[in-house]
Amino acid sequence: MLKLNNVSFAINDNGEELHLIKEASISVPPGKFMAIVGPSGCGKTTLLKIIAGINEESSGDINWGERDLSEQDLTASEVGYVPQFSIAFDELTIKESVRYALRLRVNKEQAPNQSDLVSTILDKVGLKELSDRKVKVLSGGQKRRLSLALELVTDPTLLLCDEVTSGLDPRSEKEIVTLLHSLSQNKKRIVVNVTHSLNHLDLYDIILVLYEGHVVYQGPPDQISHYFSVESAEEIYPLLGCREVNEWHESWQKHKHTYLIDDGTCTDAEPIPISYTPSPISQFIALISRRFKIFSRDKTQLILQAAMILGFPLLVAVFGLDGITQPKTLPSKSTGSIIEQFNHQVSVSESQIKIGSLISGLIMFQVILLTLIASNNSAREIAGEREIFEKERFGGLHTSSYIASKIAFLTILVLIQSLWMGIFVQICIPSLPGSAVTRLLILFMVTAAMTSVCLGISGIMKSPEQSSLLSIYLVGFQLPLSGAILTLPHWLEPISRPFISAFWAWSGNLDVMKEGFYGQSIHAVTQESSLQPLNICIAWLSVHILTGIFVAYAGTKRPQW
Ligand SMILES: Nc1ncnc2c1ncn2[C@@H]1O[C@H](COP(=O)(O)OP(=O)(O)OP(=O)(O)O)[C@@H](O)[C@H]1O
Ligand SMILES: [Mg+2]
Repeated sequence: MLKLNNVSFAINDNGEELHLIKEASISVPPGKFMAIVGPSGCGKTTLLKIIAGINEESSGDINWGERDLSEQDLTASEVGYVPQFSIAFDELTIKESVRYALRLRVNKEQAPNQSDLVSTILDKVGLKELSDRKVKVLSGGQKRRLSLALELVTDPTLLLCDEVTSGLDPRSEKEIVTLLHSLSQNKKRIVVNVTHSLNHLDLYDIILVLYEGHVVYQGPPDQISHYFSVESAEEIYPLLGCREVNEWHESWQKHKHTYLIDDGTCTDAEPIPISYTPSPISQFIALISRRFKIFSRDKTQLILQAAMILGFPLLVAVFGLDGITQPKTLPSKSTGSIIEQFNHQVSVSESQIKIGSLISGLIMFQVILLTLIASNNSAREIAGEREIFEKERFGGLHTSSYIASKIAFLTILVLIQSLWMGIFVQICIPSLPGSAVTRLLILFMVTAAMTSVCLGISGIMKSPEQSSLLSIYLVGFQLPLSGAILTLPHWLEPISRPFISAFWAWSGNLDVMKEGFYGQSIHAVTQESSLQPLNICIAWLSVHILTGIFVAYAGTKRPQW
């Protein structure tokens, strides 16, 4: 039996306590199907989240059988929560979506034969015939069925659904409500469906009417018309507005004992809190396999990546096609007239400035293009799937597995992008001075640093649009704030540079290149403060990588429903 006793939920609204749910007392016997109905904004979703344990009640008790849920939450496998929004990836098929849900939520020992289980679940929700269809082409009703299927993988004893019938035509609505009804017939499961629709109330065992955060009726559907003295259920919403909420509340307190709910012959469910959740490593493997599958099917992203990986190195190479020649040097012994010596000196300086500018500009261009690629890698990586992640975390996904899967996926991308950029440019411009391997390492580090920072942004932003915008601004400011091309005001340099990955990559690269003939050329075009030793540059890029990962982890750890 699910029991709520005087449960309230309040939030702080500009210093004032605002009750979204006030003294709700509800009981639902096992094996029952309950509707929570009420006008928009009355607190239905809030109440459902309190039952699910997503919102913590401000006062009152919630019990599940003998268990006090304030002290011991329902385990991830005991509760299924179907939110209002779509929770599947467009690029996967129905079967793949359910299979990944199973791999993320149920360990192998518990479900040894995954294919059979997936097929049984799809049969139950009426999607077996469509199992190879992609999520993106599903109708509204089919998507709701899929959402239910994703929750059935743990065979939950409490299934909570939020508006799974909203926006559907009357026929599909009836089909989904009938499906939910059939799911409640199983064992000792309770199914709760939040809806503002008053159609098909007869299919439920219990109707709970919520009005401005107060329970104003909870009883069988055939007695609701009697309680509200109406001919049909459609008249209830207009009627609610005719009295103050407190009057409704008091009236219900007075009469509730006459609308008792039949708890049937079911004995109370005594669920044993077992965790079926797979190990973090199994979850990591499932996530990484899913990420690559989605990536390989996302044509737009594939074309964009190919264009950048192949096109950007070509752009850099075009600028260096003339080749980097050896700069002229002054002879050890001065010969000729003073005028000739002076002219020679001018021509040496000009040659050094030309070559220095070419090397410095080429390196900066290469680095900036890599930071652009990097921001595209990760700006939407978490923000773009935040709702799905929150849902999966609620279902038992470890945040560490999630972040580790992102790091693994992005590392492979970064390796391909930076190594190809470095190798291609080196082949086209073999005269680039310094160790090619060290330069490759720096290119990898700067791409990884920017990818990691943008992953951090993606982990804290509320929407993918915000995250992309901020990441692009960050790339846009790399060039001016690096002080590599435009000299920064003296006071700004120490403030801005530590945050600019492009600066450290550029400076580290120049440090590798300044050996031999090129030292003077590089010095001729750069300020002394811009030339930092390689190990300092590598250290700063490492700090950027670690900070980005930490922010991404902390941002995803904080719930964002
Ligand atoms: N975190 C919050 N801060 C402030 N107000 C909130 C918060 N969460 C919910 N509310 C308010 O609480 C009320 C109830 O919200 P809830 O989402 O539970 O309504 P609902 O009955 O599910 O509505 P709908 O049928 O439109 O989905 C609304 O007025 C909403 O604006
Ligand atoms: Mg709602």
